[in-house]
Amino acid sequence: VQETLVLVKPDGVARNLSGEILRRIEAKGYSLVDIKLVQAERSLLAEHYAEHAGKPFFEPLVEFMESGQILALRVAGDRVIEGFRALAGTTDPTTAAPGTIRGDLGRDWGLKVQQNLVHGSDSPESAARELALWFA
Ligand code: GTP
Ligand code: MG
Repeated sequence: VQETLVLVKPDGVARNLSGEILRRIEAKGYSLVDIKLVQAERSLLAEHYAEHAGKPFFEPLVEFMESGQILALRVAGDRVIEGFRALAGTTDPTTAAPGTIRGDLGRDWGLKVQQNLVHGSDSPESAARELALWFA
């Protein structure tokens, strides 16, 4: 069975949306394999977002991800990588489709980084790499 890494980012934890986000994942029929609240170190975040190093939003993104606790989830199910990305919606929460986590629960707050509530691995290779980082 396929697995993915889902993160409820600091905005989601701070806004008490962890339960709502978990509810949507479970209601879709996916299973929780592991779960933990973490205060992420900068080194972990820099590795996690290595593909974005050098982009203008990289530094604000890492600062945002360091700003509070993150709920890390190991989630399993057939085609869960694609399935969770569909549940999450597109990156920009202002325009993400209603019905999605980002579309229903997120919006732009005029900040340097998009606070879009969740992360989900985008390929089997990313999932394997990211699960090894967050659930070492
Ligand atoms: P993740 O599931 O978090 O990886 O989101 P994603 O795959 O939809 O987006 P991507 O991996 O391209 O970017 C990672 C994160 O960087 C996003 O979730 C946003 O928080 C932030 N981000 C991405 N693109 C932009 C951008 O153009 N501007 C700003 N301000 N933030 C961005
Ligand atoms: Mg991504």
